[in-house]
Amino acid sequence: MSNRDESRATTRSTRRNFLKTSTAAAGTAALGSLAIGRSAHAQGSDILKVGLVGCGGRGTGAAVNALNADKNAKLTAMADVFEDRLKSSRERIIKSKPDQMAVTDENCFIGFDAYKKLIASGVDVVVLATTPQFRPIQLRACVEAGKHVFCEKPVSVDGPGTRSVLESAELAKKKGLSIVSGLCWRYHPGVKETIGRILDGAIGDIVAIQETYLTGALWKRERQPDQTEMQYQMRNWYNFHWLSGDFNVEQHIHSLDKAGWLMGDEPPVSAWGTGGRQVDAGPKHGDIYDHHAVCYEYANGVRAYSYCRQQAGCWNNVTDVILGTKGRANVLKFQIDGEKEWRYKGKPGNMYDLEHEALFAAIRGGKPINNGVYMARSTMLAVMGRMVDYTGQQLTWDQAINSKEDLSPKSYSFDAEPPVMPGPDGRYPMAIPGVTKFV
Ligand SMILES: NC(=O)c1ccc[n+]([C@@H]2O[C@H](COP(=O)([O-])OP(=O)(O)OC[C@H]3O[C@@H](n4cnc5c(N)ncnc54)[C@H](O)[C@@H]3O)[C@@H](O)[C@H]2O)c1
Repeated sequence: MSNRDESRATTRSTRRNFLKTSTAAAGTAALGSLAIGRSAHAQGSDILKVGLVGCGGRGTGAAVNALNADKNAKLTAMADVFEDRLKSSRERIIKSKPDQMAVTDENCFIGFDAYKKLIASGVDVVVLATTPQFRPIQLRACVEAGKHVFCEKPVSVDGPGTRSVLESAELAKKKGLSIVSGLCWRYHPGVKETIGRILDGAIGDIVAIQETYLTGALWKRERQPDQTEMQYQMRNWYNFHWLSGDFNVEQHIHSLDKAGWLMGDEPPVSAWGTGGRQVDAGPKHGDIYDHHAVCYEYANGVRAYSYCRQQAGCWNNVTDVILGTKGRANVLKFQIDGEKEWRYKGKPGNMYDLEHEALFAAIRGGKPINNGVYMARSTMLAVMGRMVDYTGQQLTWDQAINSKEDLSPKSYSFDAEPPVMPGPDGRYPMAIPGVTKFV
């Protein structure tokens, strides 16, 4: 076929075919994916329909990042459990990206099953940005329906959820679908280069990793008189570990992800730690801790020491310090000292746009990206940290990832009882090390 014939044939193929072809590319031989790559490139003007599930702060931002990344992407559907959240997000996105906003009233879906309706609305790409509890089932539904996904961190709150995400990632690979993770530092040019150099031996062999995420206290919501218990916890989700994973999972995952990356995304052999809550914020603090310290032990002798704290009025510090046989690195300062001194001089770039640029380029180029394994393993590092702190036990990675503890409620409904209920004083029971059992 001549170039001209090829280009005519490409023009004739429908947009739907383009998407089908590009998603089928992964499992095909090299020649097939080269041809698809070219045809997809020729169709770079096709509209990609994006759906947003979870219209909160990050979801709204991520939708805008997606539209920034690809001028031919349009937001066509939105889903949230709460109508007010969807409404305010929709207004903000209209202001920010009026030309790429194509969400009709019919394509606004509310409720626990809103994501299913969004998936069925004809979107090509789904942005998953709800509370982490829901990520495994929503990711699975997207992949089964053949959608490309931008998947915010963390991707689960327990062992069964993590295993489910790994299965979905495998299925996505088979189907040639892209999954890009919201573990955004992996897309930051300065961090990428710093970690790349460390992995290339700039500080010799890694001996120890120190991760800190020491910040002030985060938001807590008061109970409103008309709320059911489920409604209250869903509004105050960060403070309930069945919804957020606890703050070492929800926030500190960014640090643990860098440790995982530095260890080649190989899991540790075991971990132990200590944690608790020292500052009394009353019932609205739910059942999460306010500090965690965990030591992850790797097969090659490396230890990763991880500290996170959310207490007001204390010294704050968010760093990744890597100690090696020939030097040391401070990752967020893009700084390497020792035998090979180095400073990053490049532009920082907007990692939140860059991760979406990678996703859309992968879809249009027919070369799927799949961040599934590392996003699941980094999430599990954090979940494992919570498990060792809550129980006070040393656990192996195999025990942790095969844990049978399923933190989901019996049903997703505002009348259902959440997994944790308040006691007579309105307070929620917390895990007690040495008493709480590993399941
Ligand atoms: N990568 C980053 O730097 C970054 C930054 C902030 C937040 N996040 C992540 O994004 C996620 C959301 O955080 P946020 O700060 O936007 O919280 P948020 O509370 O502002 O938004 C969450 C939204 O999801 C909705 N929601 C909850 N369960 C739902 C369900 N089952 N179906 C549909 N909608 C549902 C909520 O009603 C809410 O509107 C979290 O996992 C968080 O860790 C990532």
